Amino acid sequence: MWDALKARKTIRNFLPTEVSNETIAELLEKAARAPSGGNLQPWRVYVINGDSMTRFREHVASQREAETAEYAVYPPNLKEPYRSSRFKVGEDMYALLGIPREDKAARFAHLARNFEFFGAPAAIFCFVDKIMGPPQWSDLGMFLQSFMLLAQEAGLDTCPQEAWAARPDTVKSFVDAPEELMLFCGVAIGAANPDAPVNTLVSDREPLDVWATFV
Ligand SMILES: Cc1cc2nc3c(=O)[nH]c(=O)nc-3n(C[C@H](O)[C@H](O)[C@H](O)COP(=O)(O)O)c2cc1C
Repeated sequence: MWDALKARKTIRNFLPTEVSNETIAELLEKAARAPSGGNLQPWRVYVINGDSMTRFREHVASQREAETAEYAVYPPNLKEPYRSSRFKVGEDMYALLGIPREDKAARFAHLARNFEFFGAPAAIFCFVDKIMGPPQWSDLGMFLQSFMLLAQEAGLDTCPQEAWAARPDTVKSFVDAPEELMLFCGVAIGAANPDAPVNTLVSDREPLDVWATFV
């Protein structure tokens, strides 16, 4: 477990190497052993792969209407130490990409790569029923981390993507999600490009005493 936990990191440049639906189905079934309050198992997942990925990429490119974000990804006026953590990982990432702060166009172009799954050949979208609240959202997190660790063990890399919260209509119209579901995030799945400097990013973690109190 620790091996997978240690090795997993967010990958932002994938090789086109295919992943089978059988592999993804097996990882999903195993990840569903994640706990959830009352065993509600609130995750609702759509898989995009192979032919559907080809069609989805075309669909994304064809959607030009402005969309209302599904939810606010961060609280407004993020306070410390959260603000600095967010800033630091962004700056570390852009340094590896060789994009300076003043090159807004290049930074924007990198963010837009989210909507190509950073080149990944497969992805899942994780939805939750709109009636669910914060406890069930935390269940989604447990499911998704389980999925990503299992993928890691199976030799696959991942990128969790809240960026898709900005494109809910694009996603919902393609997967034909029922009205009662809201989109939480996407997870790109595939093999990391070993030659991409951005994939060498190892994000910081706050020291234990910042977030744990032994009473
Ligand atoms: C729910 C969730 C959504 C995320 N959304 C994005 C995203 O849209 N785009 C992106 O590049 N990274 C995204 N990330 C990756 C985080 O930036 C990353 O997990 C964090 O910086 C820690 O780095 P690590 O995953 O490499 O340990 C997301 C992570 C999580 C858990």
